[in-house]
Amino acid sequence: MAKYSVFDCTIVELDKHHSDRKGNLCVVENGKTLPFDVKRVYYLYDVPGGENRGSHAHRDLEQLIIAASGSFRVTLDDGKCKRSFFLNRPYQGLYVKPGMWRDLEDFSSGAVCMVLASELYTPEDYIREYDEFLRFREE
Ligand code: TYD
Repeated sequence: MAKYSVFDCTIVELDKHHSDRKGNLCVVENGKTLPFDVKRVYYLYDVPGGENRGSHAHRDLEQLIIAASGSFRVTLDDGKCKRSFFLNRPYQGLYVKPGMWRDLEDFSSGAVCMVLASELYTPEDYIREYDEFLRFREE
């Protein structure tokens, strides 16, 4: 399988519909917004201040991470380079390629981290040990 770098992971602008009177609406549509079809949506909320999430990589899964509310920082690591993204705009998402170690931190009060994923929940797709991740990247 192709090994991607953190520079293949980018901020995606979502299709935003603005109304001065009624607020905003964002659309993510299979076949249009992303290079993968969404099979699963999950979200993190009520993350206590100072807590971290993530600390794992996925072998095959790709995903879009959206700060649907509030803000947090996502640091991606491809085993050689790290890149940090501060997410605080509900109309943007961070497109994460497979094989990236990710750490999520600095959650603001009320932050909602919404994740659109290319696969159903598959524990075998996770790498949760950093040493194993580095070995996987070198395979
Ligand atoms: P985990 O992936 O460890 O969360 P994070 O990396 O964001 O800190 O998942 C936390 C728990 O939720 C773990 O017991 C697995 C479970 N879970 C599911 O059952 N289905 C899912 O789709 C996800 C993402 C997690």
